[in-house]
Amino acid sequence: MHLLLSLGLCALAQATCCGAQSPPQQALGSSPLLSRGCSDSDVLAVSGMALQDINRDQQEGYALGLNRVHGVWEHRQDSQGSLFYLTLDVLETSCHVLSRKDWKDCGARLLHESVYGQCKAMFYVNKPKRILYLPAYNCTLRPVSRRKIHMMCPDCPSPSSTDLSDPRVLEAATESLAKYNSKSASKQYSLDKVTRASHQWVVGPAYFVEYLIRESPCTKLHASSCSLQSSDSMPVGLCQGSLTQTRTEKFVSVTCDFFKSQVQTPEGESSAVKQSSGSLPGVEQPLQENTTSSSSPAKTGPLGSIQHLPDLEDETPKGSEEKDRQEAFPVQLDLTTNPQGDTLDISFLFLGSQQEKLVVLPFPKERHSAECPGPARTTSPLVLPA
Ligand SMILES: *[C@@H]1O[C@H](CO)[C@@H](O)[C@H](O)[C@H]1NC(C)=O
Ligand SMILES: *[C@@H]1O[C@H](CO)[C@@H](O)[C@H](O)[C@H]1NC(C)=O
Repeated sequence: MHLLLSLGLCALAQATCCGAQSPPQQALGSSPLLSRGCSDSDVLAVSGMALQDINRDQQEGYALGLNRVHGVWEHRQDSQGSLFYLTLDVLETSCHVLSRKDWKDCGARLLHESVYGQCKAMFYVNKPKRILYLPAYNCTLRPVSRRKIHMMCPDCPSPSSTDLSDPRVLEAATESLAKYNSKSASKQYSLDKVTRASHQWVVGPAYFVEYLIRESPCTKLHASSCSLQSSDSMPVGLCQGSLTQTRTEKFVSVTCDFFKSQVQTPEGESSAVKQSSGSLPGVEQPLQENTTSSSSPAKTGPLGSIQHLPDLEDETPKGSEEKDRQEAFPVQLDLTTNPQGDTLDISFLFLGSQQEKLVVLPFPKERHSAECPGPARTTSPLVLPA
């Protein structure tokens, strides 16, 4: 009852209150959802921040960057603020998520090394209260099709990706890190985990690796005799290394990028609610965190995960070429199946003690506006999910 009433009020509020908003928006029949343009500046800002929160929620893998907004619905809440339903086409960047860098500051990968896909996210924006909140997301990624890359450029030497358990991958990581340590004045680093690997014939077999490093408790002076194990310290940087072997010589290269040291937040305490670098018009100041309520059990991180699927071509039997693109990147995101919606308690986001609720609908499946998808940054059809 109450829910229907609030939906009604909400639709009413949309009809009367929002004429000042400039972008063209259309309500869908009696649905409270507004179909928005995928290149509207506020939609782009909201999408960028949602993706930043998705990246913040990760402990492994590479940060995702926005390639284009695929679809967007806005649900103005009868209380305050809007819940956005976003479908985003994304690309892995070269930053590890632990760098906690904004994806906008991260480099793109070369086309033949791309990993791309789609995310769905729900993102709540309350400008007057300066609240930004990501209740849920889900993403599905795949590596770019090796066959299509090869068809595009049959003679291009492109490294093929390599199983991380290949002993030569570990050797390349160890040798390149040893080179880094030998150049380091005192501090030594140990291998945490290999995150990417590829190989290619150059003048001999060449292995290219990316790996996380930790600070080693040993210093250079007694590095060889040091038996201390790095405890449960966090990775401090990401290195790129290579090892090329010819019959007579061995070439080793290494560069490392250190993560900005960060304020340690207790495990599981998500920072999704806090925004420090948001650039949404009208939300210039970061949300103040009420430290007394930050231990409240209601304050949970966003629900979501990033699913990695194999190269699409490896999955589909030859001949049955173009599999349904929708199926190729399945992303499910539903906090409710009730077509009338359900309420989500978001009181913990507010400083006061009153109850605050968000009306959440099943993720909209209808077609998006004519202004969607928006323009892509990387326009190659090889990295666009649909
Ligand atoms: C923080 O939250 C608590 C309980 O929600 C409230 O009593 C207190 O006044 C808030 N503190 C500030 C600084 O707003
Ligand atoms: C996210 O996707 C997984 C399957 O990959 C699904 O089990 C889960 O329910 C999805 N989350 C939401 C909130 O829909």
